[in-house]
Order: sequence, then C-alpha cells, then structure tokens
Amino acid sequence: MTAQKTILRALAGETLPTPPIWMMRQAGRYLPEYKATRAQAGDFLSLCYNPELAAEVTFQPIRRYGFDAAILFADILLVPQALGADLWFVTGEGPRLSTITTQAEVDALKPVEAIHDTLNPIYETVRILSKGLPSETTLIGFAGAPWTVATYMIAGQGTPDQGPAHGLKAENRAVFDALMARITEATIEYLSAQINAGAEVIKIFDSWAGSLQGADFVDYSIKPMQQITEAIKERHPGIPVIAFPRGAGERYVGAHAAIGADCVALDDGVDATWAATHVQKDGCVQGNLKSSHMVTGGDALVSETRRIVDAFSGGPHIFNLGHGITPDADPENVQLMIDTVRGK
Ligand code: CP3
Repeated sequence: MTAQKTILRALAGETLPTPPIWMMRQAGRYLPEYKATRAQAGDFLSLCYNPELAAEVTFQPIRRYGFDAAILFADILLVPQALGADLWFVTGEGPRLSTITTQAEVDALKPVEAIHDTLNPIYETVRILSKGLPSETTLIGFAGAPWTVATYMIAGQGTPDQGPAHGLKAENRAVFDALMARITEATIEYLSAQINAGAEVIKIFDSWAGSLQGADFVDYSIKPMQQITEAIKERHPGIPVIAFPRGAGERYVGAHAAIGADCVALDDGVDATWAATHVQKDGCVQGNLKSSHMVTGGDALVSETRRIVDAFSGGPHIFNLGHGITPDADPENVQLMIDTVRGK
C-alpha cells in the first residue's frame, strides 16, 4: 500500500502521533497575499468565479505554512446564486441575497440541473488544484448545509438568531420544507461535481445548527446532512465526509452515526476533554482552538494548542480552529500554532 496522506489516514480512523492540521478560512483577509489577489480579481465574487485566481488564493496558505489540507476557495452562498437568487457582498457588512419566502418564489428557482451553468468555474478551480497541490496535501471540497444556506436565502442576509428562517418554518412549513428539499438536491449535485473534478474529502458547514431546538435539530440539521452524506457515499464510495453542526453542544454526542460522517468538526463551545470521551469515541474529530488565539498569540495560544492536542491524542484527530480565522489575525500566530502542533 502506498503511504497515504495524513488527513485521509485520520479520516479513516487512524490515531497519528502528530495530528494533521488545516484551518477554516485559511485563505483569507489576514494574509497580505490574499488581499493582493482579491484586489486583482476586483471583488470577492469575481475571485470565487475566476478559476486561476481562486486556485492561487487556495495555494497561498499551503505555500506559506504547508498545511496538510487545502480547502477549495469558494463560498456556501454560490449554491443559492446558482439556483437563481441574486447575491452580492456589501463591504464591511457581509452577504446580501434576494429573499425567498413564498411557494411561488421556491417554484421560480432554477431546476437543480441548471446549477452547473453557474458553478462550472468552481469545478475548473478544483481541477487546477487537483493537478497543482503537493502530493501530501489533501483537497477538501465543501458546501453549506441546507439549514444554514436556507437561513441566508430566507432572510436575504446573515442574522444573529436566524429569526426569519425560524419564522417561515413556524408559519409556513410546506414552503420551508420545499426550499430545504431544493437546496439538499442542489447540494448533492454540486458536491458530486466537485468530487468528479478532484475533491478528495467533502466538508458540510452547518454554521447555524445551534439555533435549531428539539426535534428541529434532528429534522433540519442532522437529517439533511445525513441525506447528503448518504447520496455522496452511494455515488462516490470511499469519499470521506466531515460534518460541522456548529453550536450543537451536547448534541455532538452520537452525531457521527446519525449523519453517517467520517469526522465531526467541533466548535470551540465544547471542551476538548469532554469531546474526547463523548464524541471522539465514535470516530475522527476536527477542531477546536478558539480563533481569537490567532489574534492574541503568546503563551495562551501555545498552552491551549497543547491542551487540545493532548486531549485528543488517544484517537483520530485533525487539528483546526473552532471557527474561521478572522481578518485581524496575525499570520505569525498561525505559524506558532502549527509549530506547536508539530512539536517544533
Ligand atoms: O475556509 C476557506 O478558506 C474556504 C473558503 C470559504 C469561504 N467561506 C471564503 C470566504 C468557506 C469554506 C466559506 C464558508 C462560509 N461562507 C460559511 C460557513 C462557515 C462559517 O464561517 O460559518 C458561511 C456562513 C459563509 C457565508 C459568508 N461568506 C459570510 C457570512 C461572509 C461574510 C463574513 C466575512 O467573513 O466577511 C462571507 C465572505 C467570505 N467567504 C470571505 C471569505 C474569504 C471574506 C470575503 C472577503 O474577502 O471580503
């Protein structure tokens, strides 16, 4: 057997002496080279849809730090755009979309087969990455989970409590369910096309899973991620899936089996020692250093990094932050985290 990439070994359940490492939003505004390429592209969406430049920003953190995985540079909101929603980004504020709150608006979305017309450049980025990455680096493709994507499509923007999506779910369940079904179908097609283009691992981001209560958490976070995972594994046997039900808290327990995921990504709201006992017992976990350490650095960064590595050292673990790195982070602190994980 050939020596496999470390990320794939951890995802297959192997306990490694040093956990492999990558970082959410590793291509991003904390890096001067990212800002330069983004300026060259014009704006964020032009960067996402320019395969050469999107591949370039994906390579940047690999060149600078030698992370064990590269994550495709794109955004979870490209799927709503491919389904026909208007999408734009307001500098300093975030995404804006045309809203979907009625059955007529769901019916007016493009058919799922049409998404590739918009998303073809993303598959081209994946092909460039697949050819150009170092042989030891794993290529991760991704999409948003249906609930998280729906929260943006319903509200037309990010919301602190996902109120508009909870409102539609309470007031017009049939419309909400139709929208969730459409996103789920589109996500399966999108991820499948990323795998055909060369993605080796899939990550599903359910950033707003934490605001789903009771049965809703199972019905609208776990089940859609399970459906997507099952469909992906049916079409592409052997492709590992990382699920990220952010904010799940105690509901992280049993998530591997409920979703059928090879790895569950942990946010920084759960304690590593607790998660090692209750979650890692079921399979690989990813996480979960607070991203604020990338701003503050110093001894606290080193001791927290070591504590997390130690806590998860008895099982399969991929080191990562608990959420994306922020634009005010210091690139030197990222190096310090990597050196600490790798015992340098
Ligand atoms: O992790 C990576 O490096 C891969 C690329 C990636 C981006 N977004 C690039 C991006 C990934 C995996 C995402 C996922 C994403 N996008 C999520 C889920 C993960 C999470 O953070 O919870 C969500 C909710 C989005 C939607 C989104 N995109 C928002 C709310 C924003 C604005 C907030 C912000 O950070 O500015 C974005 C923009 C965005 N997506 C940026 C990047 C690098 C910043 C854009 C810029 O350059 O101005």
